[in-house]
Amino acid sequence: MVGAGYVGLTSAACLAHLGFRVTCVDNDVAKVDRLCAGEVTIAEPGLADLVVAGRTRSRLDFTTDITTLAGVDLVLLCLPTPMGPDGACNLDVFESTLAILGGVLRPGCVIVTKSTVPLGTAGRVPRLLGRADLPVVSNPEFLREGHAVEDFLHPDRVVIGADAAYRDAAEEVAALYAETGAPVLHTDPATAEVTKYASNAFLAIKASYVNVLAELCERVGADVTEVTHAMGLDDRIAPDFLTAGPGWGGSCLPKDTSALLRAAEEAGVDFALVRDAVKANARQQATVVRKVRCAVTGSADGSLVGARIGILGLAFKAGTGDLRDSPAIAIVEALARQGAILTAYDPAVGAAVGLGIHGVGVVSDPYLVAEDAAALVVLTEWPEFRTLDWTALARAVRHPVVVDMRNVLDAAELATAGFRRVGLGTSAEPMA
Ligand code: UDX
Repeated sequence: MVGAGYVGLTSAACLAHLGFRVTCVDNDVAKVDRLCAGEVTIAEPGLADLVVAGRTRSRLDFTTDITTLAGVDLVLLCLPTPMGPDGACNLDVFESTLAILGGVLRPGCVIVTKSTVPLGTAGRVPRLLGRADLPVVSNPEFLREGHAVEDFLHPDRVVIGADAAYRDAAEEVAALYAETGAPVLHTDPATAEVTKYASNAFLAIKASYVNVLAELCERVGADVTEVTHAMGLDDRIAPDFLTAGPGWGGSCLPKDTSALLRAAEEAGVDFALVRDAVKANARQQATVVRKVRCAVTGSADGSLVGARIGILGLAFKAGTGDLRDSPAIAIVEALARQGAILTAYDPAVGAAVGLGIHGVGVVSDPYLVAEDAAALVVLTEWPEFRTLDWTALARAVRHPVVVDMRNVLDAAELATAGFRRVGLGTSAEPMA
């Protein structure tokens, strides 16, 4: 395994759990030292136990020395492929690692790309390796942060893309997942690469669809939660990804929609649906900012200068402390730019994490965000926000209003505590 991020480490620990002997290489010395000591700093449920078990059974090694991969049968690439400022995938780490691996691996070693890479990358791998004798297989990961172990061990499907000449290599990769019992789809590399982007872009479209639907519901007097519940009972639609929120984010959906749009443009395809989903996502963040401004000032164009606002939730979704491309961060930044003074709490983000945004402090106690606040704003759907002592929070705030942009709180309970709740997609709360 090359790369010990949440995909690489989860894959390594799960494969060790499934009985394989795994060496995981990462160039971060401190991380490798911690992993060798059985310390896992990535908050993935079940991961730490699997790492410790893998170490105890001598099936899982960590090293910074890539030459230890010289004799392995398969190399799985789980390297970062971040989005650059121009929206393109940055392949620097991926490419330089392949150049090194080309000088290290034994003849016939199977190269498996798990990282999400631009369409057509599989075809370039032999040249990047400087080797034509290594079979190349594309095996995209579909691991959700916060559910990565569960997703690896119980995948909905495994997609394996290889040219016909590499059928044996594809079978070797399929064998890695045999124990999971998941359906394995054998295809060509281009189809495997597109499948990854197509899945994530479709999820982004689904989530944006619901956010625009929420706006419509507010304007026509309907309730988006009831609408999406009814929609989700249709097997053809399915209930997942039908929750209105402040917009989608994280390390994958923004990057993958951008990469798909770029690939479509290069191929001369106008993928307006994906473009509109991205635009709707940016609009959703602006909508949340407007809702907060309305709740605090009573008008859509009131001034937020000097207004104290308490933020509940910074991560891009519950179950992770990941702030990458989090809509909450974009919203907090926008509110701070408009002069608000913000105090934020997230159960997975320590107070030591300075966001580096002027006017924004992070605290480690949810009750501290309420002090003298003109509004509280929920931006991540942590279930524990439901069970906060809302009566105590009502006593601490200056203005008892909660802008619940994940629709996680119970309006009646909040009303009993003395709060007014502003939700998303219900007629009671018209759009700002
Ligand atoms: C995603 C894909 O789901 C996974 O298969 C892929 O390989 C990696 O990218 P992840 O980034 O962990 O996983 O997040 P995911 O659970 O998909 O959520 C993405 C974003 O959509 C979050 O910001 C979430 O809050 C938002 N979302 C999700 C909604 O706004 N509404 C929903 O109904 C569901």
